Amino acid sequence: MKIIFYTPQNEAAAWLEDFARALPEAELREWHPGDTAPANFAVVWRPPRELFARREGLRAVFNLGAGVDAILALEREHPGTLPRDAQLVRLEDTGMAPQMAEYVAHAVLRYMRRFDEYERQQSERRWKVLDAHPRETFTIGVLGVGVLGTHVARALVPFGMPVRGYSRGARQIEGVTTYAGEAQFEAFLSGVKVLVNLLPHTPDTHDVLNSRVFSKLARGAYLINVARGAHLVEQDLLNALTDGQIAAATLDVFREEPLPVNHPFWQEPRITITPHSSAQTLRAESVVQVAQKIVALSRGEAVSGVVDIDRGY
Ligand code: NAP
Ligand code: GLV
Repeated sequence: MKIIFYTPQNEAAAWLEDFARALPEAELREWHPGDTAPANFAVVWRPPRELFARREGLRAVFNLGAGVDAILALEREHPGTLPRDAQLVRLEDTGMAPQMAEYVAHAVLRYMRRFDEYERQQSERRWKVLDAHPRETFTIGVLGVGVLGTHVARALVPFGMPVRGYSRGARQIEGVTTYAGEAQFEAFLSGVKVLVNLLPHTPDTHDVLNSRVFSKLARGAYLINVARGAHLVEQDLLNALTDGQIAAATLDVFREEPLPVNHPFWQEPRITITPHSSAQTLRAESVVQVAQKIVALSRGEAVSGVVDIDRGY
């Protein structure tokens, strides 16, 4: 079997070495512009459109991340980019879920115990005890309870704050109050003190973090966006911080990455910024998962994690 590999980061050699160990019978190569030689599988992160040209024999494209928005944006802009018979398969957890749980739990507890305010007090050499937010009303709402959101919601339950989850279809998660579909969106948002975004970026979820949504949350709510920058209407967040509807935000993802040096978010002390690092793709775990699925597909077996192109995730 022939496999092409592409990542814009300069790390193809290490990935190819690991894949060669996991699939010793495979013919692996790094894809370069101009390469239209046959391939059965493509393993990619943020590929250029040209990689898919004249790829009739391609059976599956493995995306080296959970979010397939970059590939599907290519398909939306240039319909027919993805070979019609190839399945698009995304990473499922591969060690990202525990990283996401650590990141979100840290941010939630930082706000609940008011460490963000203590950090500001320290910078002013001010000694003042602040009451923690009451646990019973510090309601956490996780937007998107798929692979990552479910793990995050479950990890938050033991801290004793009310935890809600929102998805398209109905879900049951022990200890979490779940809501599904547009009809229950307002009920999900109502009174939430910490809104955590783990939705995929699709045409339906574009700009979902906006002033209308913020207005439904508890006054002085917190926002944690770890999904995609295009979910957030940036000016709406700045306005909500100014009028006090949002007290603070932790943002890992941005419309433009790296965040431009002159972006107003850098100047706002109530926004905590990390460089798209909340849950990183781990090579060893990802190679194991993708290699197992390549073997399964080669035997004609079905695999999980296949993206529904029309749904967008
Ligand atoms: P997933 O398993 O596909 O889960 C997506 C969840 O969102 C599902 O619960 C789904 O509902 C829900 N959803 C999708 N569209 C919706 C809509 N229109 N209305 C309501 N709910 C909707 O995805 P995942 O593996 O958890 O990953 C989620 C996202 O995290 C990725 O797409 C990626 O953008 C982001 N991510 C970020 C990082 C980072 O480092 N910052 C790392 C990894 C992933 P159903 O359950 O009903 O389908
Ligand atoms: C990272 O952002 C991913 O989608 O895996």
